[in-house]
Amino acid sequence: KYCFARDKIILTENATLHPMDLAVIRGYGIFDFFRVSNSKPLFLDHYLDRFINSAEATYLGLALSREELSQVILELIDKNDMITGGFRMILTGGLSENHFSPGKGSLFIFAEELFLPSEEKYSKGIKLLGLEHVRPLAKIKTTNYAYPVWHSKIWKEAGAEDVLYHQDGMISESSRSNFYIIKDGKLITPSKQILEGITRHHILELADMKEIRDLGMEEALQADEAFITSTTKVLLPVVQIDNHKIGTGKPGPISLDLLRKFRNLEN
Ligand code: PDD
Repeated sequence: KYCFARDKIILTENATLHPMDLAVIRGYGIFDFFRVSNSKPLFLDHYLDRFINSAEATYLGLALSREELSQVILELIDKNDMITGGFRMILTGGLSENHFSPGKGSLFIFAEELFLPSEEKYSKGIKLLGLEHVRPLAKIKTTNYAYPVWHSKIWKEAGAEDVLYHQDGMISESSRSNFYIIKDGKLITPSKQILEGITRHHILELADMKEIRDLGMEEALQADEAFITSTTKVLLPVVQIDNHKIGTGKPGPISLDLLRKFRNLEN
């Protein structure tokens, strides 16, 4: 229905982007994605912080202040009669004089259908395919997902739900989620070469015993439990990495307890 495009709220079907925008010709831009539940944006302050940080880190100017962004979002939820769903904010690389240096970005904010994992994935757990890779500009939420989009064919063919990126034996994250293990009651998650997820922030607050540190692939395969988190998946238990079974091969009790506690934060 309605979206914000550059400087105003318009009908989404009327939004346009110049074909020479750096987002199109060089894949340069940033975004963020949050959920709306009971007509309220979940953890909006955290997502706005990250979006503003991503804009600064990529030298793209944001025309709207934090307060203006939040006003636009509330107005869009209202105008679209939205109860549950997703919201995407995008700041493109903009038009560039030399078709290369960051320009003045164009801002788009629009409601989006959510693709949530099936109940079966929560009850049975998922498989990840290990892959040697580090996300470029990992700490920034850029719109560049060329590599994961391209690779999704390979993980699907392997019967996996997603990938587990690692380099020199050290794990970073999955293609669109953060990764954790549980060992002897303790939550362990890496912090280098990752996007610091908003879901991760809350999961870490909910965990009793935790270590934020380097995590090797060998150690992960010996874990009692494992899981991934993201805005859309929330917390999905991982029961297999490549051909290795994790723990009992079923979603673990600490993982499920953290999922339940996170769901309580949503209400
Ligand atoms: N993905 N790591 C990467 C590379 C991500 O793209 C995301 C988010 C996360 C988890 O962050 P959060 O908990 O804030 O969603 C980690 C979004 C949901 C996506 O691109 O679909």
